[in-house]
Parts: sequence; C-alpha cells; structure tokens
Amino acid sequence: MAIEGLNDVPFAIQRVYYILGSTGSSRGFHAHRELEQLLTCPVGSCRVTLDDGHRRRDFQLQGPDQGLYIGPMIWREMHDFSEGSLLIVFASAWHNEDDYIRDYNEFRKLARDGHGH
Ligand code: TYD
Repeated sequence: MAIEGLNDVPFAIQRVYYILGSTGSSRGFHAHRELEQLLTCPVGSCRVTLDDGHRRRDFQLQGPDQGLYIGPMIWREMHDFSEGSLLIVFASAWHNEDDYIRDYNEFRKLARDGHGH
C-alpha cells in the first residue's frame, strides 16, 4: 500500500503516526485549530465520531480502501478498536500541543462563533 502526499491525501504529509490494537479504549477527544489529517484503518476496524460544533456523525473505518479526511476545527473521537487493529494517521504538520483544543465546551463555542484560528 502506498500513499502519496498531495496525490492520495489533499495536503503535504509532514508526520505519520499510528495507533496499534487499542481495544477497550477510546482516543482523541480533541480538535485541532489548523492541522489536517487523514485516517485509515488498513487492519481491523474502528469507529470515528466527528463533530463540527453543530452536528455529530459516526464513520466506521475498515480496510485499506477507506480514508477519512479531517480538516481544521473538527472534534474527533475514536472508539471500538477491534483486537489487533492498526489506525494510521497522516498529518499536515509536526506535533504541536498549541494547535490542540482539548476542552469540548471551548471547542463548541469557538466552532459556533466561526473562530478557532
Ligand atoms: P493525543 O493526540 O492526545 O492522542 P490521541 O489522539 O491518539 O488520543 O496524544 C497523546 C499523547 O501523545 C500526547 O501527550 C501528545 C503525544 N503525541 C506526540 O508526542 N506526537 C504525536 O504525533 C501525537 C499524535 C501525540
């Protein structure tokens, strides 16, 4: 499986990380002010909840032919990892704690006001 920045992913990839076999735990619970990401779960499956401050929607990720793009100012939660699953995340920037919004109420207010940058 090959993935090319700007070709298969709508941004230049600057960082890749993965979450391995995280059964029984949920991850995420934050939004990013500017970061763009693409999630794929080539092995096993997981459920990703996205929230734009107005609506919540669940996406089931399973298999290498699916990718989920997450733009700036979207709250994300990852749930229901299957045993031995591999969730790979391609990101547009290096890790930067200042880009995170970890408080849901703060996120919702910023998203609804159209701020966040
Ligand atoms: P976090 O992004 O909150 O995890 P997740 O979205 O997977 O639940 O990151 C968890 C910890 O790992 C946090 O202390 C920051 C650190 N981290 C890095 O150092 N580099 C990274 O690329 C990522 C994603 C996290």
